[in-house]
Amino acid sequence: MCGIMGYIGGQQAWDIVLSGLKRLEYRGYDSAGVVTLSERKLRLARQVGHISALEKAQPEPLAGSIGIGHTRWATHGGVSVKNCHPHRDSSERVAIVHNGIIDNMEALRAQLCAEGVTFRSETDSEILAELVGRGLARGLALLEAVREAMRQIEGTAGIVAIDRDDPELLVAARIGSPVVIGLGDDECWVASDPLALRPFTDRMVILDDGEIAAIFAGSFRTVDLDQRDRDKRVEKILHQPEEAERGDYEHFMLKEIHEQPRAIDRSMRGRLDVSMGSSILGGLKSHEQQLFDVKNVVFFGCGTSLYSAQVGAYLMSRYARVPCVAEDAAELAVRNPIVERSTLYVAISQSGETADTLSALREIRQRGGLVAGITNVVGSSLARETAFGTYVHAGPEISVCSTKAFTAQVLATELLSLRFARMRDLSASEGRAWALALQELPDKLKLMLEQAGACEELARRFAGHRFTMFVGRGANVPVAAEGALKLKEIAYVPAEGMSGAAMKHGPLALIEPGMPVWALVPPDETRERMIGNLRELKARGAFIMAVADLGDKEVRELVDRVIPMPSHHAAVSPILNAVPLQLFAYYSARHLGYDIDKPRNLAKSVTVM
Ligand code: F6R
Repeated sequence: MCGIMGYIGGQQAWDIVLSGLKRLEYRGYDSAGVVTLSERKLRLARQVGHISALEKAQPEPLAGSIGIGHTRWATHGGVSVKNCHPHRDSSERVAIVHNGIIDNMEALRAQLCAEGVTFRSETDSEILAELVGRGLARGLALLEAVREAMRQIEGTAGIVAIDRDDPELLVAARIGSPVVIGLGDDECWVASDPLALRPFTDRMVILDDGEIAAIFAGSFRTVDLDQRDRDKRVEKILHQPEEAERGDYEHFMLKEIHEQPRAIDRSMRGRLDVSMGSSILGGLKSHEQQLFDVKNVVFFGCGTSLYSAQVGAYLMSRYARVPCVAEDAAELAVRNPIVERSTLYVAISQSGETADTLSALREIRQRGGLVAGITNVVGSSLARETAFGTYVHAGPEISVCSTKAFTAQVLATELLSLRFARMRDLSASEGRAWALALQELPDKLKLMLEQAGACEELARRFAGHRFTMFVGRGANVPVAAEGALKLKEIAYVPAEGMSGAAMKHGPLALIEPGMPVWALVPPDETRERMIGNLRELKARGAFIMAVADLGDKEVRELVDRVIPMPSHHAAVSPILNAVPLQLFAYYSARHLGYDIDKPRNLAKSVTVM
């Protein structure tokens, strides 16, 4: 949440900082601001709204070849110009951008007010600027002043600071919130996500918690909170810059939905052993013996990642016969979890930066638990803090509404469950059938995407409906919940996703004639029960849209529309079923004219708890 960007070098900072902020806008988009430094003056432009509003308010570039910028998702203080970053100290010598939350803000603010400081904003970030400014006033260098300020705060902070009196230095620091430095020959960039740096450089350095970096044009130096020098490894950025571009698609979400066959293909490459009926997850190799001894598995994550965890829990229990549950990371973290040595904990997060998920994984590790990770973002906190794991390689996901990451995360749980199943009692032939089904997924996903027109037509019909229900059974219960989440998130339609079995315990009361209901009815062991649920819905006049086998006459007669799914192995139906629901939500939001990639009140990467 919140994007931060900085530049130091020979070019005009304004353009570079704005271009980085645009790539970070998915992290927050209620206001934006930039500070540059030239002729010993901090030059400031801030505006409420998207970055385009800032460009409109400040059509002329701010002068300077060093600058910092911020795109905000408000936490402390409302959405107003005075609360926009960058924030300056009261002497206007230092400016900072900050991503995170200062938990001891009240105490620090009271102390500084008692010392005569008048704050201009309601933010916690201005306190940080004031603390750094005070350090500079006492004669400290910027690196030292930032280090001292970071030692005083409790909470999370990814920051970049600029000192009016030192035009050759940026200082960045990290406690909890990600900070990445990009290296050029005689210039450097700094941002809260490698994505912002990709057009400029493929060499980057990821700060670890408690590190502070002095960044010059073309070099940097890192220390820790105790002032000890830290050696940092320069890493290569793998993705191509154009992967984060929208191309000919109207929205990133649509592009990312259509990227799924390719994302799943890439995610699977080299990881299937069809002849052995198993999977090969490189990251797990060094832990094979430990995995063999595992007695329980707990997947955990938040939001869409929690739903992928729930699909994984079903697959792991059903096929590998390993007791497995999925937990909401936010709850797991705070309820004094019982951590067992024979349990494998698997954190799932697209961004790898979700605060609740990181907090749960730290708590489990603290208690001696073995934690693996499934994430999309290379070098993310989750990847760095788990003992082992796997990248889903879905490519950058820019739309706030997650789509390809969901299916790629489910795929990762499929690969893990297949491996576990083959280590236990799944036969080679059963394993081969599953592995083959996974291998065929990209082509089958293409067939699901051919239903875009039908989904659009249904969305046009029901876009503004006051409620939509999604039902499934077995592994598709979480997919139904995911379908409802997509619709709520971008089309602002109240929706619920649940097991068809749960309807009669209450939610069926919501059904009235003409009400849209999505039903997931793959031709597997859940079909008979789903048929029963379809009858209950039909009897109450619901308009039923079913994702089902086109040849299933009984389903066809019971429902109003069928979105056909190709024949498939039961274990992969959650991945196929997700697609029409994503398309329905997308076209509903488009029909209603909403800002699809930037839904209100949200941001990607929820780095606050
Ligand atoms: C919904 C969505 C969110 C995220 C959740 C966790 O479309 O994107 O529900 O899934 O905030 O994010 P990650 O996966 O980055 O931990």
